[in-house]
Amino acid sequence: MDDQSLTTSLALIFLFLIILLISKTCRNRASRDAGCRLPAGSGGWPLVGETLHFVSSAYSPSPERFMDKRRRLYGKVFRSHLFGSPTIVSTDAEVSRCVLQSDARAFVPWYPKSLTELMGQSSILLINGNLQRRIHGLIGGFFKSAELKAQITRDMHSYVSHSVVNWRHHHRILVQEQTKNIVFQILVRALIGLGPGKEMQFLKQQFREFIAGLMSLPVKLPGSRLYRSLQAKKRMAMMIKSIIAEKRAEQADGGRSQRRSRDAVDVLIDDASDELTDDLISDNMIDLMIPAEDSVPVLITLAVKYLSECPLALRHLEEENMELKQRRGVEELQWNDYMSLSFTQDVITETLRMGNIISGIMRKAVKDVEIKGHLIPKGWCVLTYFRSVHLDESHYEEAYEFNPAIFFLRLFAPQEKDMSSCSFTPFGGGQRLCPGLDLARLEAAIFLHHLVTNFTWVAEEEDHIVNFPTVRMKRGMPIRVRRKS
Ligand code: HEM
Repeated sequence: MDDQSLTTSLALIFLFLIILLISKTCRNRASRDAGCRLPAGSGGWPLVGETLHFVSSAYSPSPERFMDKRRRLYGKVFRSHLFGSPTIVSTDAEVSRCVLQSDARAFVPWYPKSLTELMGQSSILLINGNLQRRIHGLIGGFFKSAELKAQITRDMHSYVSHSVVNWRHHHRILVQEQTKNIVFQILVRALIGLGPGKEMQFLKQQFREFIAGLMSLPVKLPGSRLYRSLQAKKRMAMMIKSIIAEKRAEQADGGRSQRRSRDAVDVLIDDASDELTDDLISDNMIDLMIPAEDSVPVLITLAVKYLSECPLALRHLEEENMELKQRRGVEELQWNDYMSLSFTQDVITETLRMGNIISGIMRKAVKDVEIKGHLIPKGWCVLTYFRSVHLDESHYEEAYEFNPAIFFLRLFAPQEKDMSSCSFTPFGGGQRLCPGLDLARLEAAIFLHHLVTNFTWVAEEEDHIVNFPTVRMKRGMPIRVRRKS
């Protein structure tokens, strides 16, 4: 390199550093003027930031290590660098609530690249504004309807009864696998109207291939994990689009036959808007299968795990459910019977608190945002980490103990505990509050009812919870059941 080009390069580097310094000073000044500042913390290593520490801690037997260490050093809100983005981590219930309550003028959803590739740009989890509100309203209304809850209850009865008929004395069962099979079929019927059979089996296979790539490397080369998942998604989309075409033809022919129950696709195609294209509907139906294969079965599996370790709670649960069964005799139980089993619902609530099936969610700031004196600069991500709040002793005494009675206590003695709903957010909050929360609770309650009224069980072998990339039981929660006389 000659002298002149060396001088030019040095001048350019110098100019770049000056610009960087000026923009940082301006930002700090702006935030100081507003009385807030960037939270303390560390950016970690170049490029990878603190991602490896975060992931290795999440995989380890002490998943709280990463957060606890930084909370001690910097406080409940701190700065980090995760999954390729500078990030503010919030383990503070109020700060997280403010983030969840904000709309797309302040924050938009943010997911790792492989996830956005697989979910597609029109996924409800990624879109914002009117379209997100419209789809949320349509499917949320449908999921809350008494008509769907009654159908889910009937289906759950028949699938669970059918499964448990095959459970003989001392039968070994993998709770996670059993619940995946049951819940997937029930929710798929509610979403696209598909019943059991070959097509359902095909969909299940393709869906497992699809979901395996959700947290993969963002490489789309043939043979890569992400590529195979995208191919599986294409095959599912083709199948769902042919179902949509049949439904549209039926609609053009004068409407849905009274013999067939309404499903989520019917709800979306009934909407007159041109925005709800077949591509958008099929993409969203596939995304909605994620809780069917993952979150709800894990909720039920974790409830069985915690109950196995807490005989007192199990006894109360059995008593409540046996009492209902005996009181109603041969009469078929309805969805509101299950939802009004208060201790059963407390067991589910406590499982959600301890299990943290969705440990946190990420948003990206579209402008500088200030919350409780903390600056979240434009372009940065914010991770609202529910897990640390749910396990914070200042919100829950003996936070690591499974104790469904704490929710019962809260109901009758609110002054004894912090009642603020922002310390309990397993289903998120604000405009994106999970529209499937009632369905998740209903399915868990029905499964637990059948299990505790018909069987006793013992955990078959040592198993433990894995927390990354999704929460699950490592060995699938094997139990050995004994039919009650
Ligand atoms: C234990 C079970 C479940 C858990 C823990 C859970 C958790 C969550 C959380 C935390 C969010 C908020 C995401 C965000 O703010 O970005 C969410 C959103 C969502 N959930 Fe669930 N969920 C569960 C079951 C279900 C079920 C059964 C369905 C429906 C079949 C469902 C459908 C949705 C949808 C569509 C959204 C996106 C809402 C929007 O962005 O407008 N979830 N869920």
